[in-house]
Amino acid sequence: MLVSATEMLQKAKAGHYAVGQFNINNLEWTKSILLTAQECNSPVILGVSEGAGKYMGGYDTVVGMVKGMIKGLNITVPVAIHLDHGSFDACYKCMEAGFTSVMFDGSHYAIEENVEKTTQLVKDAHAQGISIEAEVGAIGGEEDGVVGMGECADPKECKAIADLGVDFLAAGIGNIHGKYPANWQGLSFETLDAVQQLTGELPLVLHGGTGIPADMIKKAITLGVAKINVNTECQLAFTAAVREYIEAGKDLQGKGFDPRKLLAPGCEAIKKTVKEKMELFGSVDKA
Ligand code: 13P
Repeated sequence: MLVSATEMLQKAKAGHYAVGQFNINNLEWTKSILLTAQECNSPVILGVSEGAGKYMGGYDTVVGMVKGMIKGLNITVPVAIHLDHGSFDACYKCMEAGFTSVMFDGSHYAIEENVEKTTQLVKDAHAQGISIEAEVGAIGGEEDGVVGMGECADPKECKAIADLGVDFLAAGIGNIHGKYPANWQGLSFETLDAVQQLTGELPLVLHGGTGIPADMIKKAITLGVAKINVNTECQLAFTAAVREYIEAGKDLQGKGFDPRKLLAPGCEAIKKTVKEKMELFGSVDKA
């Protein structure tokens, strides 16, 4: 069932669990994630970066593929197609293509410009029943060539953006995309707590879900995080499983070179990762 992310995240925040956003790259990713969500009876958000959207042949292809799978695989749990870290223009393109949710990453603009652009997008997204995420405080690491430093958001700026009517808010709390360096300081729960005090009921989003220890994830959920983004971890799991298959020479046996066989271990690895995350986030049986 294709839906916006608003209701599933409001329910998650009220129920003290989080819904996973798992980024998709291709058909294998999408199918593995959807099947796991159905098996776990969990709501799910499919994240699409601008780069991944382009790779998959454009936003229309993404929407067509997801809609086709929801029908063909009989997926009845709530599913949102969400633009991840979108520019202002990409948000409009995705809304037109049929995405049910968008993230406007205005974190690199001055707060005044972030406010102005977010205001416009909130109005246009809501007119079409599409949910919208905004970001305050750049998330560190690299995402599609954009490098952030992992700063902590100013809670007052979070409040200013929250008041514009966004449906959920990503606040930088020392989290970064990709693998965490050995000298990472951990999440700033002080910042998260201050943000939640000012933004109240608004579901908060934790980016950079890969490699955050389970106890920190659980604590973040108690402080208002209702959406957690995971990307790199599925990529690492997929690649390790396919590497193992090839290194064992299985592609050279019989019809082992068939791409469906070659990629199958990778798909199983994604499913295992997604299931573990859904269990950790508490979204199992919350569809
Ligand atoms: P990771 O790649 O670190 O899991 O982060 C994903 C993310 O936050 C996408 O926006």
